[in-house]
Amino acid sequence: MSGQCLLETKGIYKSFGPTRALVDVNLKVSRGEVRGLIGENGSGKSTICSIIAGAQTADEGEMFLRGGSFSPKGNVDAQMQGISMIVQEAGTISGITVASNIFLGNLKQFTKHGFLSVRRMNLAAKKVLEKIGVPEINPAALIDTLNFEDRKIVEIARAMYSEPEVLIIDETTTALAQKGRAIIYNMIRQMQERNKAVLFISHDLEELMEVCNTITVLRDGNLIDTLTKEEMAIGKLRRLMVGRDLSGSYYRADFDGSYGKEVVLEFNQVTTAVNVENFCAQLHKGEILGLGGLSDCGMHEIGRAAFGIDKLVTGNVRLRKDGKNLVITSPETAIKNKIGYVSKDRDKEALILTASIKDNIVSPSLPLLSKATFVSPASEKKLSQEQVKTMEIKCYSDSQYCNELSGGNKQKVVFSKWLANESEIFILDCPTRGIDVGVKANMYALMYELKKAGKSIIMISEELPELIGMSDRILILKEGVISGEFTRNEALSEHDIIECMI
Ligand SMILES: Nc1ncnc2c1ncn2[C@@H]1O[C@H](COP(=O)(O)OP(=O)(O)OP(=O)(O)O)[C@@H](O)[C@H]1O
Ligand SMILES: [Mg+2]
Repeated sequence: MSGQCLLETKGIYKSFGPTRALVDVNLKVSRGEVRGLIGENGSGKSTICSIIAGAQTADEGEMFLRGGSFSPKGNVDAQMQGISMIVQEAGTISGITVASNIFLGNLKQFTKHGFLSVRRMNLAAKKVLEKIGVPEINPAALIDTLNFEDRKIVEIARAMYSEPEVLIIDETTTALAQKGRAIIYNMIRQMQERNKAVLFISHDLEELMEVCNTITVLRDGNLIDTLTKEEMAIGKLRRLMVGRDLSGSYYRADFDGSYGKEVVLEFNQVTTAVNVENFCAQLHKGEILGLGGLSDCGMHEIGRAAFGIDKLVTGNVRLRKDGKNLVITSPETAIKNKIGYVSKDRDKEALILTASIKDNIVSPSLPLLSKATFVSPASEKKLSQEQVKTMEIKCYSDSQYCNELSGGNKQKVVFSKWLANESEIFILDCPTRGIDVGVKANMYALMYELKKAGKSIIMISEELPELIGMSDRILILKEGVISGEFTRNEALSEHDIIECMI
């Protein structure tokens, strides 16, 4: 029956030391409902969801599932009782196969007399992968051989094999390009048709309004309001989230699109092991160069090449600086020469999660801070506190570990590293992924300021409004080669760009 209450939380409280992550949260989700959850970075969205999914326990409060008391002993237990969650951060375990990742914690069904039947497990995994529409993913492959998006899709498979009644999706779509998003939307539709429920977290208000029939707004751990389809409006949602009016568009207002003549970085016939072929481009002083395309068009590989992460098959990336003409061969040379890189895959590449905010922020700046070999703790502290303040990183102190931060706040730490290091060139791969509207506005303003100050930016993005809104010039890639180039102008539309993407 549609409309019947399926899941309820009553008076949920949760604190982490001095941080009150949740305060008296009462949530009721009915069958057939797709409930959106929205709120600023650090407002408690992931925390309430991980309590429902059994990954964390509340300090106080009760939960009910199908009318009965519900207190899961862990996430596998919650999943067995009908609740699955796709987590915000990378949720696969490296070093094991796709199939083992799908059935992790639940291998018993394939075990007989203590022996695991890998064949049966792989077969079952194959079935789930086919069911969600990705027969091309091989269950026996090592998870590490998959790209970011396919790893995320494996997590979807893990959430779905148990045929959950409540599916929680924590900011997964922003990490995914078209293929993965289509899978998620399709699953949401199926859940709704089968009278089950979905909790959907996203920072994309338009996406939420499209997909959800109700949206709950959280602010500082408090449930502020729940809006029905008829009550939803972007302005209203933003106001509820931040508690004040956020007016205007967040992109830069000018359509000037001019930048310096000086070339600062040059890609010469760059060919990478996957995707990119003979890529040639120049980045200029004070330019925001947008790179767009479908997820596997090669744009992420170009970002990695510019930072010297992957070995190139042919060609090179050259830095032009003070008459120098230097080939970027490793991240070390890149950092030394003031190139900063924000990875799409921030947990794996961009942050040391088991170190403090301060240690992460100052890490690339150590040569800058150290006079000879001595690094003064005071200068480190000053540098990191400045960044915490400018970027409004939500934490109780800069000695807090990064693995305790909310997703969006981790991204801010990554950005801060390169600001603190006084980088001249910024390679930003999906820089606003998982960042709330308020902070997004700040990030864009910051990028514009950097540009005005003569810094150069390569912004790799899967979001067309962002590319159009911020770039001086946009290069679109298709299957590893440039398929279109656009200069900043008021008339540029998403439609023009999409034509060269597909
Ligand atoms: N394990 C932890 N230890 C300490 N603090 C934590 C921990 N997990 C979450 N927090 C804090 O609780 C608050 C709520 O975090 P949560 O991850 O739920 O936010 P969120 O709404 O999901 O944000 P985002 O949009 O950035 O993902 C934040 O201030 C965060 O720093
Ligand atoms: Mg979160």
